[in-house]
Amino acid sequence: MCGIVGAVAQRNITPILLEGLKRLEYRGYDSCGVALHVDGALQRSRSTSRVADLEKQVDETGLKGFTGIAHTRWATHGAPASHNAHPHFSPSSDNARIALVHNGIIENHDELRAELTALGYVFQSQTDTEVIAHLVDHMYNGDLFDTVQQAVKRLHGAYAIAVFAREEPHRVVAARQGSPLIVGVGQGENFVASDAMALAGTSDQIIYLEEGDVVDLQLGKVWIVDVNGKSVEREVKTVHAHTGAAELGPYRHYMQKEIFEQPRVIGDTLEGITGVMPELFGDGAYKVFKEIDRVLILACGTSYYAGSTAKYWIESIAKVPVNVEIASEYRYRDSVPDPRTLVVTISQSGETADTLAALKHARALGMEHTLTICNVATSAMVRECKLAYITRAGVEVGVASTKAFTTQLAALFLLALTLAQVNGRLTDEEEAAHLKAMRHLPSAITSVLALEPQIIAWADEFARKENALFLGRGLHYPIALEGALKLKEISYIHAEAYPAGELKHGPLALVTEEMPVVTIAPNDTLIEKLKSNMQEVRARGGQLFVFADVDSRITSGDGVHVIRMPEHYGQLSPILHVVSLQLLAYHSALARGTDVDKPRNLAKSVTVE
Ligand code: F6R
Repeated sequence: MCGIVGAVAQRNITPILLEGLKRLEYRGYDSCGVALHVDGALQRSRSTSRVADLEKQVDETGLKGFTGIAHTRWATHGAPASHNAHPHFSPSSDNARIALVHNGIIENHDELRAELTALGYVFQSQTDTEVIAHLVDHMYNGDLFDTVQQAVKRLHGAYAIAVFAREEPHRVVAARQGSPLIVGVGQGENFVASDAMALAGTSDQIIYLEEGDVVDLQLGKVWIVDVNGKSVEREVKTVHAHTGAAELGPYRHYMQKEIFEQPRVIGDTLEGITGVMPELFGDGAYKVFKEIDRVLILACGTSYYAGSTAKYWIESIAKVPVNVEIASEYRYRDSVPDPRTLVVTISQSGETADTLAALKHARALGMEHTLTICNVATSAMVRECKLAYITRAGVEVGVASTKAFTTQLAALFLLALTLAQVNGRLTDEEEAAHLKAMRHLPSAITSVLALEPQIIAWADEFARKENALFLGRGLHYPIALEGALKLKEISYIHAEAYPAGELKHGPLALVTEEMPVVTIAPNDTLIEKLKSNMQEVRARGGQLFVFADVDSRITSGDGVHVIRMPEHYGQLSPILHVVSLQLLAYHSALARGTDVDKPRNLAKSVTVE
């Protein structure tokens, strides 16, 4: 999703801006650009290709400067075309006084566009961003900091912007509302970015701007005003951001590498846990867990499926009622708040706009007990929640989430145990048995990864299909949903997941010989019911591809293909089964030749609504 980098320095900043964009590349984008102050004029370069292509263009034209901004764009308003790529200039390309980049969505852009058009501005793009550039130009009073403070008052929606003016060569002004933005403080130079990772290696002295902040960056000065226009000091934190993507090593794609990293990162996530302790979720967690009667989980996409799995665990082990809501729906619906609720957000990036907004909505409804399960310790989500459990998946580069998901599951299982303990529902023997099973996860996952050759044989067949069904029951229904999501997002095969008992209520009509039906068959209390559902598929000629636990007594036969899962894993079984589905999706996509790590239309970090 969109990324911002900006700098004001006394050295050529082009390499810093481009390096920052490269560090943000993994989030997904479809165009990119950079603008610099060059000899009293504003110059820019834009590309609808990769940052490497932009870099080539910049090298060829010799674009250099001390003040500038850069951007990776993920299209919302207007196609991914060069004229829509940021930075946007105002009043026009040939006579640029203002250059601006923007993340987020301006909701009143139509109204502002009409107003600015009436004032004589000619729009070059379909973006909502160009509206802000013209607005700043129109309101410009010789002081960019003051102008931006006035201009943002006209904006409705979410934004993080960085802007500079031809008349003020050593100044970048930035502002945020609803989209993240940070400042990197340097020695006689200052930076702004949408994520601390963009500045790794450039500045580790980071200020997290707050909602409504506007910041003035000059060579030796960082001046911040808050939403009321009052001068404020914000804490400067030392942040050792990850330095971006790790090497691919022997793997063809980051997704494959990340699937294979799961034994290690689950081990890292659980490292040092010698017992179930509320404090693992932060200071004061015991008191919070004691005060709550229910749990509300808010998340999107894959993280939502982690939450859906956790519902089964928490209700069964801790006997605490759980409601799981898709964040983008929850924030807009009337719900019945209960202050004795633990609000749990789940997010790999910690930046997902819908989840952040849902969290704020829950708090506005009076639910103050908040916990996040998040993979980025420095993210907005962690800062906004009272309690946090940081998963240690490491940087996830592949757009399709894999290791972040399984580490979320491990953390959520621990949450279920902790709530059970606080409520007096976990005996010492049970605690010891669960912890033993958790510690064995890395080696159990390693055995699942060894199934790769068998899964590749299935994937070759899947690659020729356009539709697939996924079936699961109970705890494994959310895993079926996650398996279907993985397959569709990277292989573009249409896939749907159903609780197997629902098949006869409608989806059975889809089943023909052409329909592969992936079935998750753990040897649990529902296995006999599941076998009946499988018969329903076979009777209609459907082809069953079954991941069956070793002791489930399901065997290969006519139209039934079985891969045997190495061990039966009880309540933690979803963490194993999902790994085989990740491999199936990965190899199906590989066989179809798609861009596995950067599937079309998708972004890694969804910072717009
Ligand atoms: C799918 C995927 C997405 C994310 C979703 C939420 O593979 O990665 O569905 O899970 O966009 O993102 P986070 O977890 O960063 O809040």
